[in-house]
Amino acid sequence: MANVKLAVIYYSSTGTNYKMAQWAEDAANKWGADVKLVRVPELAPMSAIEQNSAWKEHYLATKDQVPEAQVEDLEWADAYIFSSPTRFGTLPAQTKQFLDQAGGLWAQGKLVNKVVSAMTSAQNPHGGQEATILSLYTTMFHWGAIVVSPGYSDNSIFSGGGNPYGTSVTVDGEGNMKEDIEGAVRHQVNRTLQVAEKMVNG
Ligand SMILES: Cc1cc2nc3c(=O)[nH]c(=O)nc-3n(C[C@H](O)[C@H](O)[C@H](O)COP(=O)(O)O)c2cc1C
Repeated sequence: MANVKLAVIYYSSTGTNYKMAQWAEDAANKWGADVKLVRVPELAPMSAIEQNSAWKEHYLATKDQVPEAQVEDLEWADAYIFSSPTRFGTLPAQTKQFLDQAGGLWAQGKLVNKVVSAMTSAQNPHGGQEATILSLYTTMFHWGAIVVSPGYSDNSIFSGGGNPYGTSVTVDGEGNMKEDIEGAVRHQVNRTLQVAEKMVNG
């Protein structure tokens, strides 16, 4: 049986989605997948980053520690977990820019049947979490990827805020997570890998 290869691809300004991605990486390692945790490249100028101390701190702490996501990671992996904050009810430009570099792989049909699931965070309980995840899934539909939503397939989803589209969390102004989503993240990763394993091994 071939090992499932998983890319955990995240963007984070102030650390929330990085933490979610780290939980995802840990869950996938425990599951036995080959895992790459990669950071979507920052696009904002340093002058903007420096206006927010939490953003600056997180940027400087991760820029040399976490490898930048490459389009080649999309070809390498059998499955993807995306984690991106909500920005005006949709994906951050950084994540979109990364996705938009996949045209070459798409044209060669190399993104077909990739197994995908997505997570997000927002400041408000109804701040656009589902819309953000759906906008990522829209791109996945164009790729011919197989979207694995959590649905209500585990109790951890209810206790983590109940988002069946993908795990999401509310963060306060200090960046504290308001719901306990770790179990939901781990379940989402395990479920995605179970589906990916069937795709890889037939
Ligand atoms: C430009 C911008 C737009 C945002 N738009 C929303 C929004 O539409 N709804 C919301 O609840 N929070 C919004 N937020 C708050 C972010 O979603 C929140 O800071 C983020 O989820 C934290 O994730 P991170 O720590 O991984 O960066 C916005 C933040 C910024 C900077």
